[in-house]
Amino acid sequence: MDSKITMEDIVSLSKRRGFVFSSSEIYGGFAAIYDFGPYGTELAKNIRELWWKTMVQENDNIVGLDSSIFMSSKVWEASGHVDGFSDPLAECKKCHSRVRVDHLLEDAGINADEKMSDEEINKLLKDNIDKITCPKCLSNDFSEAKSFNLLVKSNLGNFTGNWNDEPTYLRGETCQGIYVNFKNVLDSSRVKIPFGIAQIGKAFRNEITARQFIFRKREFEQMEMQYFVHPDDAKKIYDVWKEKRWDFYINILGFNKKNLRWSEHENLVFYAKEAWDIEYKFPFGFKELEGIHNRSDHDLTTHSKHSGVKLAYRNPKTNEEFMPWIVETSVGVDRMFLAVLTEAYHKEELEDGKSRVVLKFPFKLAPVKVAIFPLMKNKENLQNKARELYDKLKLKYVCEYDDNGNVGKRYRRQDEIGTPYCITIDFDTLEDNSVTVRDRDTMKQQRIEIERIDEFLNKKLN
Ligand code: GAP
Repeated sequence: MDSKITMEDIVSLSKRRGFVFSSSEIYGGFAAIYDFGPYGTELAKNIRELWWKTMVQENDNIVGLDSSIFMSSKVWEASGHVDGFSDPLAECKKCHSRVRVDHLLEDAGINADEKMSDEEINKLLKDNIDKITCPKCLSNDFSEAKSFNLLVKSNLGNFTGNWNDEPTYLRGETCQGIYVNFKNVLDSSRVKIPFGIAQIGKAFRNEITARQFIFRKREFEQMEMQYFVHPDDAKKIYDVWKEKRWDFYINILGFNKKNLRWSEHENLVFYAKEAWDIEYKFPFGFKELEGIHNRSDHDLTTHSKHSGVKLAYRNPKTNEEFMPWIVETSVGVDRMFLAVLTEAYHKEELEDGKSRVVLKFPFKLAPVKVAIFPLMKNKENLQNKARELYDKLKLKYVCEYDDNGNVGKRYRRQDEIGTPYCITIDFDTLEDNSVTVRDRDTMKQQRIEIERIDEFLNKKLN
């Protein structure tokens, strides 16, 4: 990422090139909800696949799960979300925007404890009112703060018409689906502690502030892994996962170390033993990208108590029985998407005095891997040759065929969507069966025989 990249750059490219659209845009949009366009869909798919490969495929003792978005409301009562999953909300008396008081305080350098009562948070707000301003109108006249529950309610299965009768919730985090399936997975597969269950899926939160593009959405996707361990091993295993997740960003995604940092949770939820976030330097500053949490035995103990089902684990060798502790890694697809996009975004001045925007994605994540151009649109023999190559390569890679405008313009377009290689079929190709391959990052071109293209791409892209 270049230091001058702004959020406007990212938002504008996302829309212009079909990465991200506002939801229901033709009806004026829908706050904090976004859709992935054609290239965004490919990028998000590649992010999910890379995470899954790193977490599930490459770890013998991590298995996958796909639990439902809807679960018994008893799950959310047991987990504490029905009573405690809330943010302090206040209204600006001047412009009437709703704001999260903990964020207002945070922006002023004051940390609000998650456990604070409405009374305590209001006192903190009052004591620091001189340091605080409404992000929209800059006033500092606010209503009293009130807790606002983030769970999204639905009327699934409620045929009485009375909204308050039997609330069902859209899941607020995917990990609860893992906890309530712990016994099913244990009984049906050959896993033994320590082992993990990983899941990718949608989560929903009634987020108060709809800011910062796809950083904080109301409908988003999480990639969570819950690792079940013996209590004595929890700290050691926690430290290993911290290192592995950091390594993912540095060595697998190739992020610049300067754009990442660790941040320890100052105010731990009561059950957590340790919690750190990996923060990324988004265009609006360092913010949480991924959380790594040591959740103690809280989750299984709570669900065991509320469901009446024994969730303790018996070691088959020693017969020791214990309640497993959980080490969690949790990151949003959308948030990783935004970090990847920010990291990849480069504005470059070119030798001819022009400039280009190029997304330098890691090849694994690039939405399109190869673009194929016939030099000219109206020459049938060039078109045929280019089509032939395209039809062959598209079976293996996501490819794009482009015969629109001059080749220079086509390069700029592919740069803006981060395509690693562009291949041009020209008149020489018809003579010598070679093509021009242009490299996204160096912009260097080389001639390669068509027979060797597959081998070349295989080496570079895999
Ligand atoms: N199970 C633990 C959990 O859900 P969290 O810190 O609330 O913890 C974990 O969320 C991750 O999910 C965050 O680090 C972030 O990447 C992503 N996330 C959370 N809320 C989000 C939102 N409203 N929009 C996009 N991503 C979100």
